[in-house]
Amino acid sequence: MSLAFEVLPDPASLAGRAAEVVEEARPRTVALSGGSSPRATYALLGRRGVLREAAVYFVDERCVPPDHEASNYRMVREALGDAGNLHRIRGEEPPERAAAAYEVELRAALGDEPALDLVVLGMGADGHIASLFPGAPEVEETGRLAVATGAAYGGYRRVTLTLPVLNRARAALFIVTGAEKAAALARVAAGEPLPATLVRGARWLLDSEAAAGIQTPHRS
Ligand code: 6PG
Repeated sequence: MSLAFEVLPDPASLAGRAAEVVEEARPRTVALSGGSSPRATYALLGRRGVLREAAVYFVDERCVPPDHEASNYRMVREALGDAGNLHRIRGEEPPERAAAAYEVELRAALGDEPALDLVVLGMGADGHIASLFPGAPEVEETGRLAVATGAAYGGYRRVTLTLPVLNRARAALFIVTGAEKAAALARVAAGEPLPATLVRGARWLLDSEAAAGIQTPHRS
């Protein structure tokens, strides 16, 4: 399975490369993932004002208030430094209501089949993306743009964009770092049907630890 992998020596150089890729894309609409891997990239984008003119949506959100330490909105706002153009998922609302409201917002802004210019994704050690976890029913959702997870993950229920939205994006960029991701990445490279494998045409930026289990033609 030929995937566009690019390997950087370490997380810092990966963040720099990822910021370059986002800047080159000049997205007018973008959806950002949470977690820890993309934080350094977001900080670079914030310092450079790269997304200041863009409409910034969220790939997913933990069902917590916006000032909660686990909030993806809080992490992104602190990293980008400009909250004016952030379209957050209302994590403080009941999950199903927050998901329905986000769907209405996306449809109003981007139409019934929203095509974001760019989605920035991470990948969990189990091959999950967004809040689409292996074996979860949300992975199969195709009618809605955003759904609430039935289960809690990492201690929180989530609201997540669905795979059709991620696959309709004009570009998808994965940022994957750390040895704990190497096994899942090898499974993705082998074409195993993990959620991460289901994102078509994505560009993958890996650090050398995450890439330890795959043969990559391109190492920067
Ligand atoms: C979240 C993210 C999630 C993340 C992966 C990887 O809300 O946690 O959207 O999908 O991208 O879990 O997380 P790390 O980058 O922290 O390893």
